[in-house]
Amino acid sequence: MPTLLAFPLAALLLMLLLLPPCSPFAPPPPSPVLVTGATGKVGRLIVEELLLRNIPVRALARDVDRARHVLHPLDPFSSDPSRAANLHIVKGDVTDRASLEDAVDGASAVIAAHGTLRLSRLHQALLPLYWPALSPARFARRDMAHPYHVNYRAVEALGELCAKHGVGKIVRLTGLTCSLRPWNPVSVIFNALLSFSGRYHKMGEAALLAGPTPVTLLRPGGLSDVPRDPSLASVQVALAGSLPPPARVPRADVALAAVESALHPELRGESYACAIRSAGDVGGRRQGERGEGRGTALEALLEELPNRELPGRYNAGRENLMISACHGLFVWTLLLAVGKGAKVAVGLAARVVARFAI
Ligand SMILES: NC(=O)c1ccc[n+]([C@@H]2O[C@H](COP(=O)([O-])OP(=O)(O)OC[C@H]3O[C@@H](n4cnc5c(N)ncnc54)[C@H](OP(=O)(O)O)[C@@H]3O)[C@@H](O)[C@H]2O)c1
Repeated sequence: MPTLLAFPLAALLLMLLLLPPCSPFAPPPPSPVLVTGATGKVGRLIVEELLLRNIPVRALARDVDRARHVLHPLDPFSSDPSRAANLHIVKGDVTDRASLEDAVDGASAVIAAHGTLRLSRLHQALLPLYWPALSPARFARRDMAHPYHVNYRAVEALGELCAKHGVGKIVRLTGLTCSLRPWNPVSVIFNALLSFSGRYHKMGEAALLAGPTPVTLLRPGGLSDVPRDPSLASVQVALAGSLPPPARVPRADVALAAVESALHPELRGESYACAIRSAGDVGGRRQGERGEGRGTALEALLEELPNRELPGRYNAGRENLMISACHGLFVWTLLLAVGKGAKVAVGLAARVVARFAI
């Protein structure tokens, strides 16, 4: 009897071995992870980390040639073929809903590392924002590179598209300023100088939290390209979303925290706001104690997971009012101080001129 069965079994085994990989018996290829801002300094580290783990990556880029240059630094002929096969650069702009939808469709997770920081235009900084802050679309309607579109509206659209296409997880990179109150001086100065980038990040965060997809809001402090010395500093995270300054953190640790939040089975289905910094001696400067963190981003995240907390409901009307009031106070105090300074300078100059003229 066993000899009777041996022949068909061997034939079946041979057939399975010879079947092409796309046959219904082969395991389906893993779904890709979409990375927006893939050409950015953090984005490229995220892509690198995913490729190292053999995860297919869909890298969204506005300029495909530049993305190839940034993401394929190795000679295409000598590079690892699995890397080339797993990396798909797709052309798109996060502010263009159609290209964003094409990129999101079929992704298992999205890591949104795009963002923009730009100096305020003079009229936007000087006009107290009573009007534009309450209705930002009025002054940024056609300016698609404005943080209003890139940090807020695009993120809002991303949340909607992820829900529509059943994406399993969104990781969004924002900043530690999102944990500050509107009247915090750092928040006021950053908003006034940087086209309200921080405020629009916060609005983007709120839009994601309102959706059904599990989300990690990753809030680094100041980003650094200098690697962390593990013997001097650890990775500290707080899943209640805020950490005290100073809060420098290497981009490499932020990239690892993003990838773990998107893929690790214990973190993937959870929503939390994660503040992250290095703790200990950072480039000769002290920020916190090394014992406050852990050796890797993953260890720190898993340890803090039971303490996760989501930001409270975002009251856009109240927040806008506060921001407008603080901004107006700051700008007009600055203008008065500059005016007073100019008056003193003119008086002094007049006295000097009068003295030498006589
Ligand atoms: N720098 C800091 O200290 C700091 C601190 C806290 C948080 N952050 C946040 O972390 C984010 C990532 O930092 P980073 O150093 O990697 O920034 P980065 O190098 O300036 O990267 C920004 C990325 O966003 C992409 N991008 C901008 N507008 C886009 C659009 N409309 N459509 C598609 N992609 C767009 C850029 O693409 P292109 O290559 O096409 O321009 C680039 O890949 C920042 O954007 C900021 O929000 C930064």
